[in-house]
Amino acid sequence: MNEMIYCEGLVKIFKSEDIEVVALQGLNLTVNQGEMMAIIGNSGSGKSTLLNMLGGLDRPSAGQVNVGGWDLLKIRDDQLVEYKRNTVGFVWQNNGRNLLPYLSALENVEMPMLLSGKLDRVYAKQLLEWVGLKDRMHSKLHQLSGGEQQRVAIAISLSNRPKLLLADEPTGSVDTATADQIMNIFRNVNRELGITIVIVTHDLTLAGKVDRVVAIRDGLTSTEFLKRNPNLDLATMENGGFHQGGLQEVHEAFVVVDRVGRLQVPKEYLEAVGIQGRASMEFDGDKIVITAPKSLEEENA
Ligand SMILES: Nc1ncnc2c1ncn2[C@@H]1O[C@H](COP(=O)(O)OP(=O)(O)OP(=O)(O)O)[C@@H](O)[C@H]1O
Ligand SMILES: [Mg+2]
Repeated sequence: MNEMIYCEGLVKIFKSEDIEVVALQGLNLTVNQGEMMAIIGNSGSGKSTLLNMLGGLDRPSAGQVNVGGWDLLKIRDDQLVEYKRNTVGFVWQNNGRNLLPYLSALENVEMPMLLSGKLDRVYAKQLLEWVGLKDRMHSKLHQLSGGEQQRVAIAISLSNRPKLLLADEPTGSVDTATADQIMNIFRNVNRELGITIVIVTHDLTLAGKVDRVVAIRDGLTSTEFLKRNPNLDLATMENGGFHQGGLQEVHEAFVVVDRVGRLQVPKEYLEAVGIQGRASMEFDGDKIVITAPKSLEEENA
Protein backbone atom coordinates (compact mmCIF):
# COMPACT_ATOMS: atom_id res chain seq x y z
CA MET A 1 0.00 0.00 0.00
CA ASN A 2 1.52 3.32 -0.99
CA GLU A 3 -1.11 5.48 0.68
CA MET A 4 0.11 7.32 3.76
CA ILE A 5 -3.23 9.01 4.47
CA TYR A 6 -6.66 7.83 3.45
CA CYS A 7 -9.76 9.73 4.58
CA GLU A 8 -13.21 9.03 3.33
CA GLY A 9 -16.38 10.70 4.54
CA LEU A 10 -14.50 12.08 7.51
CA VAL A 11 -16.79 13.89 9.94
CA LYS A 12 -15.90 15.93 13.01
CA ILE A 13 -18.58 17.45 15.17
CA PHE A 14 -17.75 19.69 18.12
CA LYS A 15 -20.49 19.65 20.74
CA SER A 16 -20.82 21.96 23.68
CA GLU A 17 -23.86 22.65 25.90
CA ASP A 18 -26.01 24.41 23.38
CA ILE A 19 -24.17 24.42 20.06
CA GLU A 20 -22.96 21.86 17.61
CA VAL A 21 -20.33 22.72 15.01
CA VAL A 22 -19.81 20.36 12.06
CA ALA A 23 -16.17 21.19 11.30
CA LEU A 24 -15.63 18.35 8.80
CA GLN A 25 -18.63 17.28 6.79
CA GLY A 26 -17.54 14.07 5.08
CA LEU A 27 -14.11 14.98 3.82
CA ASN A 28 -12.18 12.83 1.35
CA LEU A 29 -8.41 12.97 1.07
CA THR A 30 -5.68 10.61 -0.08
CA VAL A 31 -2.00 11.39 0.35
CA ASN A 32 0.63 9.04 -1.04
CA GLN A 33 3.76 8.00 0.77
CA GLY A 34 6.59 10.40 0.03
CA GLU A 35 4.30 13.21 -1.09
CA MET A 36 4.73 16.81 0.02
CA MET A 37 1.43 18.62 -0.32
CA ALA A 38 -0.36 21.68 0.99
CA ILE A 39 -3.84 22.30 2.32
CA ILE A 40 -5.36 25.75 1.90
CA GLY A 41 -8.73 27.21 2.86
CA ASN A 42 -10.41 30.16 4.53
CA SER A 43 -10.36 30.64 8.26
CA GLY A 44 -12.79 28.21 9.87
CA SER A 45 -12.87 25.83 6.90
CA GLY A 46 -11.59 22.92 9.00
CA LYS A 47 -7.86 22.78 8.22
CA SER A 48 -6.62 22.55 11.80
CA THR A 49 -9.43 20.17 12.70
CA LEU A 50 -8.27 17.86 9.91
CA LEU A 51 -4.63 18.08 10.96
CA ASN A 52 -5.51 17.36 14.59
CA MET A 53 -7.42 14.23 13.49
CA LEU A 54 -4.45 13.09 11.39
CA GLY A 55 -2.03 13.78 14.23
CA GLY A 56 -4.07 11.80 16.74
CA LEU A 57 -4.59 14.91 18.90
CA ASP A 58 -8.35 14.65 18.61
CA ARG A 59 -10.75 11.89 17.64
CA PRO A 60 -12.94 11.88 14.52
CA SER A 61 -16.73 11.63 14.94
CA ALA A 62 -17.41 9.38 11.94
CA GLY A 63 -16.11 8.23 8.58
CA GLN A 64 -12.83 6.58 7.71
CA VAL A 65 -9.35 7.81 8.49
CA ASN A 66 -6.35 5.64 8.02
CA VAL A 67 -2.78 6.84 8.51
CA GLY A 68 0.29 4.68 8.02
CA GLY A 69 -1.77 1.53 8.48
CA TRP A 70 -3.56 2.75 11.65
CA ASP A 71 -7.33 3.08 11.72
CA LEU A 72 -7.67 6.29 13.72
CA LEU A 73 -11.38 5.80 14.34
CA LYS A 74 -10.95 2.42 16.00
CA ILE A 75 -7.51 2.90 17.53
CA ARG A 76 -7.25 2.21 21.29
CA ASP A 77 -5.88 4.89 23.61
CA ASP A 78 -2.64 2.98 24.29
CA GLN A 79 -2.14 2.46 20.55
CA LEU A 80 -2.76 6.16 19.99
CA VAL A 81 0.15 6.97 22.30
CA GLU A 82 2.36 4.67 20.25
CA TYR A 83 1.03 6.20 17.03
CA LYS A 84 1.86 9.73 18.18
CA ARG A 85 5.28 8.65 19.37
CA ASN A 86 6.36 6.70 16.28
CA THR A 87 4.38 7.72 13.24
CA VAL A 88 3.77 11.48 13.27
CA GLY A 89 5.69 14.68 13.87
CA PHE A 90 3.89 17.99 14.41
CA VAL A 91 4.90 21.59 13.76
CA TRP A 92 2.66 24.51 14.80
CA GLN A 93 2.64 28.18 13.92
CA ASN A 94 3.87 29.16 17.33
CA ASN A 95 6.06 26.51 18.77
CA GLY A 96 7.55 28.72 21.44
CA ARG A 97 5.15 27.38 24.05
CA ASN A 98 6.39 23.81 23.46
CA LEU A 99 10.06 24.67 23.80
CA LEU A 100 12.05 25.03 26.98
CA PRO A 101 13.53 28.56 27.06
CA TYR A 102 16.45 27.93 29.43
CA LEU A 103 17.69 24.80 27.70
CA SER A 104 19.91 24.93 24.64
CA ALA A 105 18.64 24.12 21.15
CA LEU A 106 20.40 20.76 21.37
CA GLU A 107 18.91 19.95 24.77
CA ASN A 108 15.48 20.84 23.44
CA VAL A 109 15.88 18.37 20.55
CA GLU A 110 17.20 15.70 22.94
CA MET A 111 14.32 16.13 25.40
CA PRO A 112 11.69 14.06 23.52
CA MET A 113 14.38 11.45 22.82
CA LEU A 114 15.09 11.21 26.56
CA LEU A 115 11.38 10.95 27.33
CA SER A 116 10.98 8.02 24.97
CA GLY A 117 14.21 6.41 26.20
CA LYS A 118 16.01 6.70 22.87
CA LEU A 119 18.64 9.41 23.26
CA ASP A 120 20.73 9.76 20.09
CA ARG A 121 22.99 12.82 20.37
CA VAL A 122 24.56 12.28 16.96
CA TYR A 123 21.15 12.34 15.30
CA ALA A 124 20.04 15.37 17.36
CA LYS A 125 23.10 17.29 16.14
CA GLN A 126 22.50 16.14 12.60
CA LEU A 127 18.91 17.41 12.75
CA LEU A 128 20.06 20.83 13.94
CA GLU A 129 22.61 20.92 11.15
CA TRP A 130 19.81 20.00 8.75
CA VAL A 131 17.76 23.02 9.77
CA GLY A 132 20.78 25.31 9.49
CA LEU A 133 21.49 25.75 13.22
CA LYS A 134 24.81 23.93 13.49
CA ASP A 135 26.48 27.04 14.90
CA ARG A 136 23.68 27.83 17.33
CA MET A 137 23.01 24.42 18.84
CA HIS A 138 24.44 25.39 22.22
CA SER A 139 22.54 28.68 22.42
CA LYS A 140 19.69 28.85 24.90
CA LEU A 141 16.29 28.90 23.28
CA HIS A 142 15.43 32.37 24.57
CA GLN A 143 18.55 33.69 22.83
CA LEU A 144 17.26 32.59 19.41
CA SER A 145 15.01 34.55 17.06
CA GLY A 146 11.45 33.46 16.33
CA GLY A 147 12.50 31.97 12.98
CA GLU A 148 15.41 30.10 14.60
CA GLN A 149 13.11 28.78 17.31
CA GLN A 150 10.75 27.59 14.61
CA ARG A 151 13.64 25.67 13.02
CA VAL A 152 14.45 24.08 16.38
CA ALA A 153 10.78 23.05 16.51
CA ILE A 154 11.14 21.40 13.10
CA ALA A 155 14.22 19.51 14.32
CA ILE A 156 12.21 18.36 17.37
CA SER A 157 9.31 17.22 15.20
CA LEU A 158 11.75 14.95 13.37
CA SER A 159 13.48 13.61 16.48
CA ASN A 160 11.23 10.54 16.70
CA ARG A 161 11.92 9.73 13.00
CA PRO A 162 8.25 10.07 11.96
CA LYS A 163 6.90 8.76 8.68
CA LEU A 164 4.52 11.70 8.43
CA LEU A 165 5.15 15.35 9.24
CA LEU A 166 2.13 17.59 9.85
CA ALA A 167 2.66 21.35 9.85
CA ASP A 168 -0.14 23.77 10.76
CA GLU A 169 0.73 27.27 9.48
CA PRO A 170 4.44 26.67 10.13
CA THR A 171 5.38 29.97 8.52
CA GLY A 172 2.48 31.96 9.97
CA SER A 173 4.60 34.20 12.18
CA VAL A 174 7.87 34.58 10.28
CA ASP A 175 8.93 36.89 7.44
CA THR A 176 9.07 35.89 3.78
CA ALA A 177 12.77 35.03 3.73
CA THR A 178 12.42 32.76 6.79
CA ALA A 179 9.27 31.23 5.31
CA ASP A 180 11.27 30.37 2.16
CA GLN A 181 14.01 28.86 4.28
CA ILE A 182 11.49 26.74 6.20
CA MET A 183 9.90 25.52 2.96
CA ASN A 184 13.36 24.54 1.70
CA ILE A 185 13.99 22.58 4.90
CA PHE A 186 10.69 20.74 4.40
CA ARG A 187 11.61 19.98 0.80
CA ASN A 188 15.00 18.57 1.81
CA VAL A 189 13.51 16.49 4.60
CA ASN A 190 10.94 15.17 2.14
CA ARG A 191 13.55 14.29 -0.48
CA GLU A 192 16.37 13.07 1.73
CA LEU A 193 14.41 11.22 4.41
CA GLY A 194 11.37 10.34 2.30
CA ILE A 195 9.01 11.72 4.95
CA THR A 196 5.47 12.48 3.79
CA ILE A 197 4.62 16.12 4.55
CA VAL A 198 1.27 17.90 4.84
CA ILE A 199 1.44 21.67 5.28
CA VAL A 200 -1.53 23.86 6.15
CA THR A 201 -1.06 27.44 4.98
CA HIS A 202 -2.88 30.65 4.12
CA ASP A 203 -0.01 31.69 1.91
CA LEU A 204 -0.67 30.85 -1.74
CA THR A 205 2.92 31.66 -2.69
CA LEU A 206 4.14 28.94 -0.36
CA ALA A 207 1.41 26.57 -1.48
CA GLY A 208 2.64 27.12 -5.05
CA LYS A 209 5.91 25.44 -4.11
CA VAL A 210 4.54 21.96 -3.61
CA ASP A 211 3.37 19.40 -6.16
CA ARG A 212 -0.23 19.29 -5.07
CA VAL A 213 -2.53 21.63 -3.22
CA VAL A 214 -5.94 20.71 -1.87
CA ALA A 215 -8.43 23.41 -0.98
CA ILE A 216 -10.93 22.84 1.82
CA ARG A 217 -14.21 24.74 1.84
CA ASP A 218 -16.76 24.33 4.64
CA GLY A 219 -15.24 21.07 5.85
CA LEU A 220 -15.05 19.41 2.44
CA THR A 221 -12.25 19.10 -0.12
CA SER A 222 -13.43 21.34 -2.94
CA THR A 223 -10.61 21.98 -5.37
CA GLU A 224 -7.34 20.31 -6.15
CA PHE A 225 -4.39 22.07 -7.80
CA LEU A 226 -1.88 19.96 -9.69
CA LYS A 227 1.38 21.08 -11.25
CA ARG A 228 0.80 21.81 -14.94
CA ASN A 229 4.08 20.22 -15.91
CA PRO A 230 5.11 17.44 -13.55
CA ASN A 231 8.70 17.69 -14.83
CA LEU A 232 9.00 21.28 -13.71
CA ASP A 233 11.32 21.46 -10.77
CA LEU A 234 9.99 24.30 -8.65
CA ALA A 235 13.25 24.58 -6.75
CA THR A 236 15.18 25.16 -9.97
CA MET A 237 12.62 27.66 -11.18
CA GLU A 238 13.11 29.73 -8.05
CA ASN A 239 16.84 29.78 -8.60
CA GLY A 240 16.14 30.94 -12.12
CA GLY A 241 14.44 34.02 -10.74
CA PHE A 242 10.95 32.60 -10.36
CA HIS A 243 9.61 34.16 -7.20
CA GLN A 244 6.00 35.06 -7.65
CA GLY A 245 5.11 31.33 -7.62
CA GLY A 246 1.37 32.05 -7.66
CA LEU A 247 -0.76 28.95 -7.53
CA GLN A 248 -2.48 29.51 -10.87
CA GLU A 249 0.74 30.02 -12.82
CA VAL A 250 2.21 26.67 -12.01
CA HIS A 251 -0.85 24.68 -11.08
CA GLU A 252 -4.04 23.74 -12.84
CA ALA A 253 -7.22 23.71 -10.75
CA PHE A 254 -9.60 20.74 -10.69
CA VAL A 255 -12.92 20.40 -8.92
CA VAL A 256 -12.99 17.42 -6.58
CA VAL A 257 -15.75 14.93 -7.42
CA ASP A 258 -16.34 12.27 -4.79
CA ARG A 259 -17.18 8.63 -5.32
CA VAL A 260 -20.93 9.21 -5.45
CA GLY A 261 -20.63 12.20 -7.79
CA ARG A 262 -20.90 15.10 -5.36
CA LEU A 263 -18.97 18.29 -6.00
CA GLN A 264 -18.95 21.80 -4.54
CA VAL A 265 -19.86 24.79 -6.71
CA PRO A 266 -18.34 28.06 -5.45
CA LYS A 267 -20.90 30.39 -3.85
CA GLU A 268 -19.89 33.25 -6.17
CA TYR A 269 -20.80 31.17 -9.23
CA LEU A 270 -24.17 30.22 -7.79
CA GLU A 271 -24.95 33.81 -6.88
CA ALA A 272 -23.82 35.10 -10.27
CA VAL A 273 -26.33 32.93 -12.14
CA GLY A 274 -29.01 33.17 -9.47
CA ILE A 275 -29.04 29.57 -8.26
CA GLN A 276 -30.59 29.07 -4.83
CA GLY A 277 -31.45 25.64 -3.49
CA ARG A 278 -32.30 24.19 -6.89
CA ALA A 279 -30.74 24.17 -10.38
CA SER A 280 -31.27 22.77 -13.85
CA MET A 281 -28.62 20.43 -15.19
CA GLU A 282 -28.22 19.47 -18.83
CA PHE A 283 -25.88 17.10 -20.57
CA ASP A 284 -25.24 17.71 -24.26
CA GLY A 285 -23.13 14.63 -24.78
CA ASP A 286 -20.00 16.63 -24.18
CA LYS A 287 -20.58 19.12 -21.40
CA ILE A 288 -22.62 19.22 -18.23
CA VAL A 289 -24.28 22.62 -17.91
CA ILE A 290 -25.75 23.85 -14.64
CA THR A 291 -28.10 26.83 -14.85
CA ALA A 292 -30.71 28.59 -12.72
CA PRO A 293 -33.87 26.45 -12.69
CA LYS A 294 -36.07 26.84 -15.76
CA SER A 295 -39.67 27.30 -14.72
CA LEU A 296 -42.07 24.53 -15.73
CA GLU A 297 -44.07 26.95 -17.89
CA GLU A 298 -40.95 27.86 -19.80
CA GLU A 299 -40.23 24.17 -20.28
CA ASN A 300 -43.71 23.50 -21.64
CA ALA A 301 -43.77 26.51 -23.94
N1 LIG B 1 -12.71 22.74 20.11
C1 LIG B 1 -13.68 23.27 19.35
N2 LIG B 1 -14.94 23.42 19.81
C2 LIG B 1 -15.92 23.95 19.05
N3 LIG B 1 -15.74 24.33 17.78
C3 LIG B 1 -14.52 24.20 17.24
C4 LIG B 1 -13.42 23.67 17.99
N4 LIG B 1 -12.32 23.67 17.19
C5 LIG B 1 -12.72 24.18 16.00
N5 LIG B 1 -14.04 24.49 16.01
C6 LIG B 1 -14.85 25.04 14.90
O1 LIG B 1 -14.66 24.21 13.77
C7 LIG B 1 -14.54 24.98 12.57
C8 LIG B 1 -13.22 24.69 11.90
O2 LIG B 1 -12.17 25.19 12.71
P1 LIG B 1 -10.63 25.01 12.34
O3 LIG B 1 -9.84 25.46 13.51
O4 LIG B 1 -10.40 23.63 11.86
O5 LIG B 1 -10.48 26.04 11.13
P2 LIG B 1 -9.16 26.43 10.30
O6 LIG B 1 -9.46 26.12 8.87
O7 LIG B 1 -7.97 25.82 10.91
O8 LIG B 1 -9.14 28.03 10.49
P3 LIG B 1 -7.88 29.03 10.64
O9 LIG B 1 -7.38 29.26 9.24
O10 LIG B 1 -8.49 30.25 11.22
O11 LIG B 1 -6.87 28.39 11.53
C9 LIG B 1 -14.73 26.42 13.00
O12 LIG B 1 -16.07 26.78 12.81
C10 LIG B 1 -14.37 26.41 14.47
O13 LIG B 1 -15.06 27.42 15.16
MG1 LIG C 1 -6.25 26.59 11.88
